Amino acid sequence: METLKHYVETYTNTAETNDFVWEHFRDEVNKNPFLKNHRDYVEEKQAGFGDRSFHHMWYLLLQDLKEKKEEITCLEIGIFKGQVISLWALIAKEIGLKAKITGISPLEGNYPNNSLFRNYYIRKLLSYVVPSIRRDFADGNIHIQEDFIGHIQKMFDNSGLDLREVNLIKGYSNDENISSQVQNQKFDIVYIDGDHSYKVCKEDLDNYAKIIKPNGYLVMDDASNFNPGTKFFKGIVEVSKACEEIDATIFKNILNVGHNRIYQRVG
Ligand SMILES: C[S@@+](CC[C@H](N)C(=O)[O-])C[C@H]1O[C@@H](n2cnc3c(N)ncnc32)[C@H](O)[C@@H]1O
Repeated sequence: METLKHYVETYTNTAETNDFVWEHFRDEVNKNPFLKNHRDYVEEKQAGFGDRSFHHMWYLLLQDLKEKKEEITCLEIGIFKGQVISLWALIAKEIGLKAKITGISPLEGNYPNNSLFRNYYIRKLLSYVVPSIRRDFADGNIHIQEDFIGHIQKMFDNSGLDLREVNLIKGYSNDENISSQVQNQKFDIVYIDGDHSYKVCKEDLDNYAKIIKPNGYLVMDDASNFNPGTKFFKGIVEVSKACEEIDATIFKNILNVGHNRIYQRVG
């Protein structure tokens, strides 16, 4: 299996390479039983977003960090039902790496769980008439109320993982009472996938990119609208716009996997 370094060294941000990486990473997941089983569960239970290829991206990133250190620290903003935090824990267990995982998420929905909002087409219809729903719909910010802790627990149980080892912070990343809880820490990985409006995405970048360790990784979800490629969902324009403003002298965009963009702290 090729390493992260291999893909980074051969990467060019072209349609051909972006399509190749996205398809090839998906195929690598399907060849790797523990990654495949995890993603199959997510898809079967509709317990997460993103693409199958991302599982291989995380595998390569954690393998890369394992070459350099025995213990790593990871932070996810926007946990939903726990796909990524459980995947990190699973990969770490599988490759023998200690991972201290933190997640920040409201752990509740922002729309009621009723027959109106459960129906995608009615949500879409409402988005034409109610401006706030229109904004949330366009930004992928509609989350129906559910028992998120219950879903996360099930995701961890399904992979034989202990959720108690994760530092779950309940709240909004742009609330100062929440962001202050991690400001004295440093992370090897920060994954931003919370509120997808330009405003909050910029706030997340301001608050959390600075706590990434030197050479650590910032991964931005839904961020590839301005990247070439034809085979994958490109993301959310507001997020992609915020990413255009990432200072390239501090964070170098080293690889893109569909709408996940990987930046490495170089400054
Ligand atoms: C697209 S989902 C995340 C999907 C998840 N990362 C995955 O891979 O399955 C976005 C999540 O961010 C949460 N969220 C929304 N605004 C947030 C904020 N300001 N801070 C943290 N999480 C937020 C939502 O409640 C939802 O759980």
